[in-house]
Amino acid sequence: MEMFYIPVILGSIRRDRESAKVASFVVDYLGGMNGVATQLLDLKAMSLPMMEERLRFRKDAPPGIVQFSTQMKRANSIVIVTPEYNSGYPGVLKNALDYLKDEYKRKPFGIVTVSSSTLGGMLCLSSLREVVLHLGGVPIPAILPVSRVQELFLPDGTVTDPVFRRRAGAYFEELFWFTEALAVHRQKTTP
Ligand SMILES: Cc1cc2nc3c(=O)[nH]c(=O)nc-3n(C[C@H](O)[C@H](O)[C@H](O)COP(=O)(O)O)c2cc1C
Repeated sequence: MEMFYIPVILGSIRRDRESAKVASFVVDYLGGMNGVATQLLDLKAMSLPMMEERLRFRKDAPPGIVQFSTQMKRANSIVIVTPEYNSGYPGVLKNALDYLKDEYKRKPFGIVTVSSSTLGGMLCLSSLREVVLHLGGVPIPAILPVSRVQELFLPDGTVTDPVFRRRAGAYFEELFWFTEALAVHRQKTTP
């Protein structure tokens, strides 16, 4: 069986970040799916400097970015777990995405938005979709907003709401569909 590599970018580096619990849940979920390999790409651990120029135009690549590029190149699709900050996405996430471009081309993106309110980060979803489209990625139509994140997880990471679990299952099935569909076609055509 073909394996699809679907890394998970954690877009929050905030102290005591709640989104880390969501990202762990997503990594566990994807890791349990047949035909999927995954890995957490934590922007906090990467500690990328502010983007002075895109990787392809630099001879002095800052530490971490080459590895990030390699992971994005290898990826069949990409999940971003992002909190909503002031109705947008965190600057640290945009900073990381801006370093690269061709790596994302024609790859499905699952954008999982997180907030402590009941709105689940829906406002940052549309603006991040615009960014992904500009980068040549394909944001999937399905949504997985995480509302009231501070109540959704127990301290050990267990999800308290069975409805969320079911929604997540349907969401990742949808992501898998797009992952497989686009991967098959990418293999048949030149980039
Ligand atoms: C700078 C900042 C701005 C925020 N703006 C929003 C917002 O626009 N909408 C919202 O629903 N929650 C907002 N929140 C609350 C976040 O949803 C909440 O802090 C959540 O835990 C963020 O994820 P994190 O813990 O991974 O940082 C904001 C939080 C911060 C720190």
